[in-house]
Amino acid sequence: MTQITAAITAVGKYLPDYILTNAELETMVDTNDEWIVSRTGIKERRILKGENKGSSYMAIRAAKDLIQKSKIDPKDIDLVIVATATPDMQAASTAAYTATQIGATNAFSFDLISACSSFLFAMSTAASYIETKKYKKVLLIGADKNSSMIDYTDRATCIIFGDGAGAVLFEPNEEGLGLQDEVLQTDGNGREFLQVAAGGSQLPASSETIANKQHYVFQDGRTVFKYAVSKMAEVADKIVARNNLTKENIDWLAAHQANKRIIDATARRIGLDEKQVMLNIEKYGNTTSATLPLLLNDYENQLKKGDKIIFAAFGGGFSWGAIYLKWAYNTNN
Ligand code: UT7
Repeated sequence: MTQITAAITAVGKYLPDYILTNAELETMVDTNDEWIVSRTGIKERRILKGENKGSSYMAIRAAKDLIQKSKIDPKDIDLVIVATATPDMQAASTAAYTATQIGATNAFSFDLISACSSFLFAMSTAASYIETKKYKKVLLIGADKNSSMIDYTDRATCIIFGDGAGAVLFEPNEEGLGLQDEVLQTDGNGREFLQVAAGGSQLPASSETIANKQHYVFQDGRTVFKYAVSKMAEVADKIVARNNLTKENIDWLAAHQANKRIIDATARRIGLDEKQVMLNIEKYGNTTSATLPLLLNDYENQLKKGDKIIFAAFGGGFSWGAIYLKWAYNTNN
């Protein structure tokens, strides 16, 4: 019997129009372009403006972009997963709303939340649903409105994050392409170093939590940086070694775009050159769940069928991991 693997067969994206530049940030907090670029690699990021727009606003548009490009009928989608750290609201699923809005009326749907590892972990989930042969079309969207939880008077966090969404479609493949291997890990000892303390079940919203600014992202940047460098490099190295991959036969590194220095360290650890490393941090900053699918969108025209891609991510929790995937199509553009 033919073995079924789970391949990415289409991508789509949405980025808000508003560009928040380093120059504008200089007018908001005590920072400067030179510091931001040299410490993070970020020049600008997108911000979703307007009332009543949550992550679903961007998720819907990224999904519609994919549907329009791939010409699939949304009614054929079996499952919609929205990977996000910023769901529209508590209790009501962002994925359910997104699925209905894009016309995926025959799909079931759910959110997958694991900070900056949400999309990576959801790739594993989406692929597993295909590999069971129960479902044939799984739409995975990574969408985050990070600006909804950033304190724009805190220079330690406001320079890093941006908003955006990217989508990928997973389908069965009989040529052995798609997801090959994964190493996924978590360590709850890390949660004190990167979190939004209030607004969840542990510390519900109150006038006190608002006064204490506990609904904003808190990050101990140095500690997170240290762990991110060591853990992302460690899992990337592990997945490379156990799949007998080498610098010569890996085509791309698609790493979470939190800080260019972390991406560079991961690339160095597995011996890759700059030209093998996908990058868009300069334009979008850290878009959390959207970083990996946005990379695939930006590099789609350069990707060739059979290309070997190493994905890696690190985020709050702590949570981190690496995935090895073989690209499944050539674009005609
Ligand atoms: O996506 C989830 C995972 N998140 C990450 O992976 C992020 C990991 N962390 C980082 O990327 C980095 O730690 C940051 C970009 C957040 C900070 O860079 P850093 O090189 O670790 O800076 P630092 O926190 O060690 O601060 C160095 C100096 C400090 O000044 P002193 O104490 O040396 O005088 C800071 O006060 O830079 C100062 N500083 C700034 N200066 C200008 C901190 N933020 C800024 C700023 N502009 N925005």
